[in-house]
Amino acid sequence: MKIPSMTEALNLFDEGLKVLSANHPKFPPSIINTYRVHGTLVAFCAEIIASKIPELDGRAAYILGLLHDYGKLITIEEKGDTFHGVSGYEAFLEKGYDDVARICLSHSFPNKKFKIRDYASYPVKELCKARRLLRKIEYNDYDRLIQLCDMFVAGLGLVNLKDRMDFIRDKYRISSLIIKRKYREALELKRYFDKKCGCDIYMLLGVDR
Ligand SMILES: [Fe+2]
Repeated sequence: MKIPSMTEALNLFDEGLKVLSANHPKFPPSIINTYRVHGTLVAFCAEIIASKIPELDGRAAYILGLLHDYGKLITIEEKGDTFHGVSGYEAFLEKGYDDVARICLSHSFPNKKFKIRDYASYPVKELCKARRLLRKIEYNDYDRLIQLCDMFVAGLGLVNLKDRMDFIRDKYRISSLIIKRKYREALELKRYFDKKCGCDIYMLLGVDR
């Protein structure tokens, strides 16, 4: 796989957090910390689940989880002209880490043919670019794994998928119709990994139902 070593991944993550800090001088340390916790928790969940599946590598899953939101760290998304999925994708392609690049791109989209209006907080031009790029990618279990694990993290903790949907509905003011669709996709992913692991992922991660 084209991914950095664990040491390099941790360094890249730290450097990304420094860029985030520099780009947002008004962010208090507690906000920067939510980005650190988010990446670390997604990595943690991904490693635990991957370790139960013989075809997956727990260490690789941790690295992919840690760096999936790298695009959010290195760009100022609030300016409204970037989408972190594409920013992270381009940054890691340039570094030669193609497998991290694809995760940056795929982690937000359980459905490759997503509707642009379901992601209204991001610029249409960048979403169209993401959809075009995704057409060339056949999702593998790492793509699916990081999509799922990203949905277990809300704020500073692990939550079940229903609570995560409530969290994003309130944060991004998404309609209940879109939330229902996202919830269906999320449950489908969870069932897929429940089956692969031979257990309930909520139990495995210690998440309340
Ligand atoms: Fe994320």
